[in-house]
Amino acid sequence: MEAGQILITGANRGLGLELVRQFSSDGWDVLACCRAPESAAELSRLAAQSSGRVRVIPLDVSRAESIQRLAQNLRGEPIDILFSNAGVYGGSSQAGLGSSVDDSDEWMQVFAVNTIAPLQLVDTLMPNLLLGKQKIIALMSSKMASLADNSSGGSYIYRSSKVALNAVGKSLAVDLAPEGIKVALLHPGWVQTDMGGPNGLIQAKESVLGMRDVLNTLTPEKSGKFFNYDGSELPW
Ligand SMILES: NC(=O)c1ccc[n+]([C@@H]2O[C@H](COP(=O)([O-])OP(=O)(O)OC[C@H]3O[C@@H](n4cnc5c(N)ncnc54)[C@H](OP(=O)(O)O)[C@@H]3O)[C@@H](O)[C@H]2O)c1
Repeated sequence: MEAGQILITGANRGLGLELVRQFSSDGWDVLACCRAPESAAELSRLAAQSSGRVRVIPLDVSRAESIQRLAQNLRGEPIDILFSNAGVYGGSSQAGLGSSVDDSDEWMQVFAVNTIAPLQLVDTLMPNLLLGKQKIIALMSSKMASLADNSSGGSYIYRSSKVALNAVGKSLAVDLAPEGIKVALLHPGWVQTDMGGPNGLIQAKESVLGMRDVLNTLTPEKSGKFFNYDGSELPW
């Protein structure tokens, strides 16, 4: 795929940081969004070594005014790929029934970040996406959203937020097809990050290499589907 400009959320650590690393070293201009640029040491180092290709931009995806400010800053700029990566798991006590039911505030916060924010970002940055050449929206989902794959139960908050994200992504794919915009719902694998933990099966490097291949081969016919990082399609 011809290099262009990509916007990445949650760019300061984990998969987001690796996305910044790989896209920038491949010649892309990267709008690297994170909540706290002042404490994003590794991202700042990457940006400093990027000859201006990586711009670090403040964004808390759960705050509508933060998304609005981002859109104002980026007015008139094309975005070829919008990669909504920022995500949260929510409280760790999601195994038992009671714990998740009792924690509805936590549930709303996880939905705000994992489900509602990606749609708000797309909606607000639509003029930028329309200016882009590639016109791709990548939404970081999770295999834990697969109802067909759920044999272990639990994780009520996280699972439901990502199932709902898949519903958002599917509707976006339908609604934006006339504009030539393609949508990919991505499972990154079980990756060794703060969220994935030390037992993850793969490193961020392998995950991101795989997801970039998925985006490279995304066609209008494949838009709105749910892909594993290795390119295979996942069941809803
Ligand atoms: N790792 C895995 O095995 C795995 C598997 C399936 C899906 N995923 C998905 O992959 C994505 C990235 O996960 P990861 O493993 O890289 O997790 P991570 O290491 O925990 O990183 C999460 C990122 O999201 C950011 N974030 C959280 N809330 C935010 C907010 N309100 N505004 C802006 N940024 C926010 C974090 O920023 P702060 O540093 O400011 O908190 C951080 O940059 C997530 O959507 C996750 O659900 C991961």
